[in-house]
Amino acid sequence: MIKLSDRVNLVKPSATLTITAKAAELRAAGKNIISLSVGEPDFDTPKAACDAAKAAIDAGFTRYTAVPGIPELRKAIAAKFKKDNDLDYEADDILVSTGGKQCIYNMLQAMINPGDEVIIPAPFWVSYPDMVLLAGGVPVIVDTTAENGFKLSGPQLEAAITPKTKLLFLNSPSNPTGMAYSHDDLAALGAVLKKHENVAVATDDMYEKILFDGKTFATIAQVCPDVKDRTITLNGVSKAYCMTGWRIGFCAGPRHLIKAMAKIQGQSTSNPSSIAQKAALAALTGPTDALEEMVRVYEGRRTWLVAALNKIPGVTCIMPDGAFYVFPSVQAWLGKKTPAGVVLKDDLDVCAWLLEDAGVALVPGTEFGAPGFMRISYAVAQATLEDAVGRIAKAAESLS
Ligand SMILES: Cc1ncc(COP(=O)(O)O)c(C=O)c1O
Repeated sequence: MIKLSDRVNLVKPSATLTITAKAAELRAAGKNIISLSVGEPDFDTPKAACDAAKAAIDAGFTRYTAVPGIPELRKAIAAKFKKDNDLDYEADDILVSTGGKQCIYNMLQAMINPGDEVIIPAPFWVSYPDMVLLAGGVPVIVDTTAENGFKLSGPQLEAAITPKTKLLFLNSPSNPTGMAYSHDDLAALGAVLKKHENVAVATDDMYEKILFDGKTFATIAQVCPDVKDRTITLNGVSKAYCMTGWRIGFCAGPRHLIKAMAKIQGQSTSNPSSIAQKAALAALTGPTDALEEMVRVYEGRRTWLVAALNKIPGVTCIMPDGAFYVFPSVQAWLGKKTPAGVVLKDDLDVCAWLLEDAGVALVPGTEFGAPGFMRISYAVAQATLEDAVGRIAKAAESLS
């Protein structure tokens, strides 16, 4: 048998996949399962993007492109950063990759040395710690609380920094909590970073466009120009333009780092799909009415869902600012007994029980470094959401 690398053994299997597999198994057995574990929009890719992709194929735009992306897309991304974030970048400061995920991967491969510490506030997006480990780095997880909006504070950041700290991860609006850092929140973090010149910051702004209540999006390079030359701003078209399958992400940062990341990309996957790049260009420069309508629908679902969850005994849920997730606490359920006599000892048990008894698939908070919570995605139709919440409420009544 082929012996696997030490590297691959650093990465843990995803609990999300375990839940998905279990849900599929139950479905195959004829059970009606609602999945609220999805991480992608339930809307269609804008027509302009689809048309551009078809036109690209018809025009034979089906060959290798420049590794970091076609110049017109990199220029459009630079224009996006200027327009949306008041950030000045040139096309050479931009890298286009096969999904936002690959930008993050390239960045870590290009900047992390063995033993470098990377500060990751929890709850975190599941891939950050594993990608840090694959790069030889040491994830330093800093817990945040629902009371503080799941946001890292200046003093918490200060306390986590050591001489080995290389990078801080931010993600706003957040997957899994939906919370967004305000201008003031970022200014407080920027004040700490200003004192620690060797600490870089990666901000994952993938959900930038999905922000509610009329809030204005803020990102750290814009709020704290002093740290811009050590900031990598990561974004993409997957969530805003419902293009998860097209695999286009992008980022802006210091030119030498972007070049180094492109070198890694050039020796691994090369350019992202030529056709998808044309589609992303059309999405970024096209009409925004579909996006605005989608955000309006998400906002309505969020407001309904948070209120409905808070009515269920034992569930407490704060109101997220954006994305399409809520992250309720189910700590009050721990120690209770299900009708089958199982004592729920943690959020993994809670999610397994809700899947079995209520037929609702959710992701346990432990996956995101936050035991006692669970992530609910509302990227599903309102009727499905109402069905799922009804089932959860009924299951909750059966606990003793
Ligand atoms: C916070 C966050 N960053 C990055 C990504 C990756 O996006 P992409 O599908 O473009 O690789 C996701 C996708 O779930 C995400 O939630």
